[in-house]
Amino acid sequence: MKYSRIAGTGRYLPEKVMTNADLEKIVDTSDEWIRTRTGVERRHVCTEDQAVSDMCIEAAKIAIEDAGIDVTDIDMVITGTTTPDFIFPNVSTIVQHKLGIPACAAFSLEAACTGFIYALSTADKFIKAGEAKCVLVLGAECITKLLDWNDRNTCVLFGDGAGAVILKPSDEPGIISCHLGADGQYKDLLHYPYGASNNLALAGTESGKILMTGNEVFKVAVKTLGNIAAKTLEDAGITHEELDWLVPHQANIRIIQAMAKRLNMPMEKVIVTVQDHGNTSAASVPMALDVGIRDGRIKKGQLVLAEAFGGGFTWGTVLMRL
Ligand code: UT7
Repeated sequence: MKYSRIAGTGRYLPEKVMTNADLEKIVDTSDEWIRTRTGVERRHVCTEDQAVSDMCIEAAKIAIEDAGIDVTDIDMVITGTTTPDFIFPNVSTIVQHKLGIPACAAFSLEAACTGFIYALSTADKFIKAGEAKCVLVLGAECITKLLDWNDRNTCVLFGDGAGAVILKPSDEPGIISCHLGADGQYKDLLHYPYGASNNLALAGTESGKILMTGNEVFKVAVKTLGNIAAKTLEDAGITHEELDWLVPHQANIRIIQAMAKRLNMPMEKVIVTVQDHGNTSAASVPMALDVGIRDGRIKKGQLVLAEAFGGGFTWGTVLMRL
């Protein structure tokens, strides 16, 4: 088995929905500003006692059923998240235990909004190396717990959720290629600079908040994603006409439109969920993939380019056949 291939997908969104009208009551903003500048209309928000692992478990159950496998088939769990339940144990171990997956390698990785793309790429390598046979790959985030609800620059952008895929070996691709990148020189443009070994006392408090220079992030995101997407297609010898679907990170409709333009793809071939989900960071790509597959747009055998960009900066693409 030379390749890995997605065998099933799932997503979970918290029940509570906040609309732009709800936010108009909290900060000095308007539905019109949020819609035109970001494309967001509503977002799901997890409750106080809901952790990332809870959402992962719900998304995973659906992906497991979709793949037609048993939990005992899974031999690795990888979660991309920047909002884990705890500093340790890692989210994947909690998911492994609560779902009844037999003891196996289970770890989480942190690459902000690119977390799922990094996790999927890592799972692909384990399968290709013959070291895993059935990997549960998750991208999940309770990012609203890090928001300052008085800061209109950030609180209107984000939402919570979890996406899951089951990755298995296959004789045919499957995952064709992954391109990952990062450049820490941009760390101050988008960060939450509070953690276990730095500013611990501020983490999770009202004074510790997401800091973002949005318009600068926007420019680097469009340029970097455009370049890496073009390189991904070029390396694979694939033209944009052959691509059936673009599944982009859902940070801003204007970034998504710029990407579609750069790839010469009509918006009809782009899965867009930003209006309903907001920016769910590492959860955005697997949830968008699940939406596209479940509503019948993305069909088996079609060629899909998934991409993401986030704090760090980190970025990445996965080119795959479903
Ligand atoms: O997921 C990881 C990657 N993240 C991203 O890719 C995010 C990239 N950045 C963006 O999506 C956009 O930069 C934002 C949506 C964050 C902001 O849009 P923008 O068009 O770049 O606006 P801006 O930051 O340049 O602000 C324009 C104006 C400012 O007012 P002045 O200075 O022109 O008077 C802001 O104070 O809009 C104001 N503003 C708001 N007004 C109403 C900022 N936030 C709001 C708001 N409601 N919520």
